[in-house]
Amino acid sequence: MCGIVGAVANNDIIPVLVEGLKRLEYRGYDSAGVAVLKSGNLERVRRVGKVRELDSALADSGLSATTGIAHTRWATHGQPSEANAHPHTSADTIAVVCNGIIENHDELRADLVGKGYAFMSETDTEVVAHQIHFFIEQGNEFFEAVTRTCALLEGAYALAIIKHDEPNRMIGARRGSPLIVGLAENENYIASDISALLPVTNRYLVLDDGDLCEINQHSIRVVDATGSEVSRPIRESKIKADAVELGEYRHYMLKEIYEQATAVADTLDGRLAGDRILEQAFGPESAAIFDSTRFVQIIACGTSFHAGLVASYWLESFGVPCRVEIASEFRYRAHAVPDDALVVTISQSGETADTIAALTEAMRIGFKHSLSICNVPESSLVRDSDICLMTHAGPEIGVASTKAFTTQLAALMLFAIAMGRRFNMDSDTEARLVSEMKTLPAKIEQALNLDEDIAEVAKQFADKDHSLFLGRGAHYPIAMEGALKLKEISYIHAEAYAAGELKHGPLALVDGRMPVIAVAPNNELLEKLKSNIHEVRARGGRLLVFADAAAGIEAEEDVQVMHVAPVDDSISPIIYTIPLQLLSYHVALIKGTDVDKPRNLAKSVTVE
Ligand code: G6P
Repeated sequence: MCGIVGAVANNDIIPVLVEGLKRLEYRGYDSAGVAVLKSGNLERVRRVGKVRELDSALADSGLSATTGIAHTRWATHGQPSEANAHPHTSADTIAVVCNGIIENHDELRADLVGKGYAFMSETDTEVVAHQIHFFIEQGNEFFEAVTRTCALLEGAYALAIIKHDEPNRMIGARRGSPLIVGLAENENYIASDISALLPVTNRYLVLDDGDLCEINQHSIRVVDATGSEVSRPIRESKIKADAVELGEYRHYMLKEIYEQATAVADTLDGRLAGDRILEQAFGPESAAIFDSTRFVQIIACGTSFHAGLVASYWLESFGVPCRVEIASEFRYRAHAVPDDALVVTISQSGETADTIAALTEAMRIGFKHSLSICNVPESSLVRDSDICLMTHAGPEIGVASTKAFTTQLAALMLFAIAMGRRFNMDSDTEARLVSEMKTLPAKIEQALNLDEDIAEVAKQFADKDHSLFLGRGAHYPIAMEGALKLKEISYIHAEAYAAGELKHGPLALVDGRMPVIAVAPNNELLEKLKSNIHEVRARGGRLLVFADAAAGIEAEEDVQVMHVAPVDDSISPIIYTIPLQLLSYHVALIKGTDVDKPRNLAKSVTVE
């Protein structure tokens, strides 16, 4: 899951490429590089590490150019090293950046080695450069050579390519990985997503799967998978350039945690009227689809999967049969396909390869309809689904997902109500839920007030190696999400358990060095959870409990209690998420990890 930026302009494009890469670093960040055209030659600068390393190397080099491609990498084939960093070249004439995986690269490599090509990297991308070079040597024109190369590639990829003696020209190709073309006055761009280009343009077009494009300063040509010239609609991004800037915050994650009241309000905006939800938010085809749905299959990865788990508690409580599965599992197993089933994919990016593939598989084997709950309007999942409901979280940069999650939950509650109406949810219940949903922004603000207290409590965690998160009911997935956040950014091993399972194994781990975090909202499972808390205390465990003051859980030497303001059980999974996010943030801060870009992870996993 790498990030690509390319530019063809009439003034120096190095600053645009570097800024674009910084904005794409969320896609991966173990190395970065640029290749530019300079007086009939290709010049390349690559560095291991974050984009800032490349930035300073470029500043030292004094390089400037009007045509160039750039890349930030998240290693899939070959370790993070300068030799493996993109762009990759062939015979100093072709330079390529790629996002994705070329699945048949071994075969292509063997063939190219047989033809005399020497490989300088362990990457799958290098075959693309040599293959294009080979076709050019065979007498093909540059665009034709790229087309013929793409026809040989198996897998999913997005490419940007330049050629040493073709100034002012760049070729792009897309199959399975996202790629857009940005349009501006006398300059054109290629990028993985529009956020990379916002400082220079908000006008762009999205390439379809199988498209190739060719850009120069003044024109754009797009050719589809059948080889016919096509025009793709020009769009205008509504994202503000500064939406992806840090402002007063130390980290994007903290900024995004604090944006949640607004993001959830934006997600609900225009979708609630009086004491009802407005189903029209799902689009005109949705009513017929929901009417015919008798079963809901939710598919997602990571944090989005946890949102799906919470939703399954809501849906089943309204009588809607529902199953939730991790996309990478769903796509590779046999299914007994339920009748009249709606597949719901949940994804922040809309580009997660496993989720896209699982959706494709679901439709292939006979699931009837598809709904995507997503934060990126132009994404593959949205385009591949029958209907969609956008979360309005705004761009999320921190790799550890926060506001995307809470907005997904808000959107899923709308969906659960829309479906519940068709099963056994009555209008009074809907009215009560809607009135609770309207309180969400204020309740989120209240939960954020715990920030300072949590910063204090976090000090006790920073030297721990392990932790256990407990929850029950719809708060079990919230405990899972809390554990995921902590491990992602603080690197502390964190496991979540349904509290009732404690005695079936994890209790053996509990001692004074294993902090136990319990999510204990004031609901009908509270007494059960209190028993679990006693089980921990009896084994010398130390507890941190998130509960409301009326829950009657007293602080003791071995029990710390963080008081969460009273909240209705219907929306409490959203509210109890906030203190857990803050906890992991402060622990990571104390540990000094790279909060926004944790090691080995990437924001958008566009490869399997
Ligand atoms: C990556 C990210 C997670 C995210 C998951 C699913 O692992 O680091 O934060 O939850 O992908 O991503 P999606 O964009 O499909 O929600």
